[in-house]
Amino acid sequence: MRTIALANQKGGTGKTTTAASLAGALAETGRRVLLVDLDPQSHLTAHFGRNPTGPGAYELITGAAAPADVIQPAVAPGVDLVAAGLQLAAAEVELVQEVGRELMLRRALARLDDNYDYLFVDCSPSLGLLTVNALAAVREVFIPVQAEWLALRALGQLVETVEVVRERLNPELEITGVIACMYKTRRVLCAQVLEALREHFGRQLFKTVIRENIRLAEAPSHGLPITIYDPGSRGAEDYRRLAREVIAQEQDGSARSKKRRQGP
Ligand SMILES: Nc1ncnc2c1ncn2[C@@H]1O[C@H](COP(=O)(O)OP(=O)(O)OP(=O)(O)O)[C@@H](O)[C@H]1O
Ligand SMILES: [Mg+2]
Repeated sequence: MRTIALANQKGGTGKTTTAASLAGALAETGRRVLLVDLDPQSHLTAHFGRNPTGPGAYELITGAAAPADVIQPAVAPGVDLVAAGLQLAAAEVELVQEVGRELMLRRALARLDDNYDYLFVDCSPSLGLLTVNALAAVREVFIPVQAEWLALRALGQLVETVEVVRERLNPELEITGVIACMYKTRRVLCAQVLEALREHFGRQLFKTVIRENIRLAEAPSHGLPITIYDPGSRGAEDYRRLAREVIAQEQDGSARSKKRRQGP
């Protein structure tokens, strides 16, 4: 199973859209995907038409529930979900009191039955305790970025945080993918930013760019991933291409997977 956090402390860069859409595209190829909504905004939960009312990521992270008790099966074909849970917003504050507070999610996921090919954790736009928990629990980070100059500025801090988490909590952690999202094909600026990303991240930057596509913004209101909401759209096409690149990482060795996580 590959375990991947979608992180960027800048808001609205395409994290949640990528989690839902990439899950849909990978599931189309027969892979099994588990999504964990670790954002108190619960947008990923909403994207699949679910309410954050029942037990979810909050109960998982606090150890109140086992993974099997919080997983909602088949929110889309081949995709299971751990919803955000209403109390998740409080977790950030509550967990500060806990010993081992950065490793709560990691410990919880050690109890997960390895039925999945991919586990994606959708992070909130912050580098707070929940995001640190995500980074401590996975082996890979994908960074969705918007092709804008200001978006580049946020990346330094994120890369630094990943390095600190790797040094102190999770030596296996690696940034294995940067994804240019909401790409405007006719804008010179976008091409320039993409070039800057390529110079900085090299092979870590996915070749696939996710073009701006209104269908991607519409999909959540129908409770469906883009691959089902509008299978012929540019958005579905781009995320299918991205899924092929993600799968190809497993052949070229740039992915990091392991049978099953051990607790700390
Ligand atoms: N390629 C795209 N084309 C058009 N709209 C998009 C695209 N990707 C995302 N969006 C829209 O942009 C907004 C922000 O995207 P999304 O919610 O995925 O970002 P995020 O990084 O998860 O945000 P947050 O930081 O708040 O969690 C959403 O309304 C989404 O529907
Ligand atoms: Mg989001």
